[in-house]
Amino acid sequence: IFARSAARALSTPSSSRLFSASAAAHTKVAVLGAGGGIGQPLSLLLKNDPLVTSLSLYDIRGAPGVAADVSHVDTASEVKGYAADQLDQALEGVKVVVIPAGVPRKPGMTRDDLFNTNASIVRDLAAAVGRVAPDAHILVISNPVNSTVPIVAATLEKAGAFDPKRLFGITTLDVVRAARFLSGIVEATPNETPVTVVGGHSGATIVPLLSQSPHGKAVKGEKYEKLVHRIQFGGDEVVQAKDGAGSATLSMAYAGAKFTNSLLRGLNGEKGVITPTFVKSPLFADQGIDFFSSNVELGPNGVEKIHPIGELTAEEEKLLAACLPELKKNIEKGKAFVA
Ligand code: NAD
Ligand code: LMR
Repeated sequence: IFARSAARALSTPSSSRLFSASAAAHTKVAVLGAGGGIGQPLSLLLKNDPLVTSLSLYDIRGAPGVAADVSHVDTASEVKGYAADQLDQALEGVKVVVIPAGVPRKPGMTRDDLFNTNASIVRDLAAAVGRVAPDAHILVISNPVNSTVPIVAATLEKAGAFDPKRLFGITTLDVVRAARFLSGIVEATPNETPVTVVGGHSGATIVPLLSQSPHGKAVKGEKYEKLVHRIQFGGDEVVQAKDGAGSATLSMAYAGAKFTNSLLRGLNGEKGVITPTFVKSPLFADQGIDFFSSNVELGPNGVEKIHPIGELTAEEEKLLAACLPELKKNIEKGKAFVA
């Protein structure tokens, strides 16, 4: 099944597949937190990505076992697992580092409640990347993303290794959810209902721009309110359903692998690879908000072009007005932690 899907990925249009390959390239990708609920399926999906030639799996527990398991999958890439004391070895020669390390939410918690535990995990991993693989692209999954991305940036800045073109907060799950939820309402396939989601990655900071989607702009009134709420709080649905056993892992692994493939296509020179991601951004910097997710074109150096958010409806202006102060607080909290 996987061999067939990889072959199909090479021959179908990019909008309808998870993986695609436009050029042969040698790319070593590391997953930090590879033993976890996201890390395991993400490692499997990356093993199935023809653009990944080498996979380096690290966790404070369990990564060698995950690596041994995933390494039997019949795709060409090499896989190696690293134990808790082998972080530096895991990062050697790595071009892309994906970070899903850290604790997930339980019912009743906000993503910000994870800050106290995850901030130092992410800071220490970022410091290691800055030391061992300073040219790597870093993809941050660990929550709260609105704060962990500024933490990584500030940590790398301290080490003299920060390049804003190479740091990404992964908001792809919001984009995946928006397409899926909208498709259910308008009776189309998710491929036909892509939605640009901007802002950050938590509750009110998640701003779906449904008016910019041909299908989305037709959704009005109570249906619109409910759809926006579902996109903003989709994570809570999973947290509640898992009932104490964590948050989204499988859909997040899918989203993380999807974003990684987009980045690798951009790095390999494919043109027109555009997706929302949370990056250092000039869009609201004049309001003291220097990280923001909007459509970003990915290219050989990572961030190629940050797109403006475009025209908003009055409803979307309200959503944005609610997003910005919360996002600002989250970003400042991350920066203060490192300072
Ligand atoms: P999990 O507890 O199942 O796995 C986390 C893994 O991180 C564990 O294997 C743990 O050993 C490992 N870990 C802890 N400290 C580490 C360190 N210093 N170095 C390396 N590994 C370390 O959790 P999960 O469900 O995989 O979620 C991980 C994170 O991803 C959470 O913070 C969660 O909130 C976040 N998340 C983000 C999104 C998003 O859209 N960005 C979506 C879902 C989950
Ligand atoms: C999500 O959106 O599913 C993740 O951020 C995990 C969570 O805590 O909801």
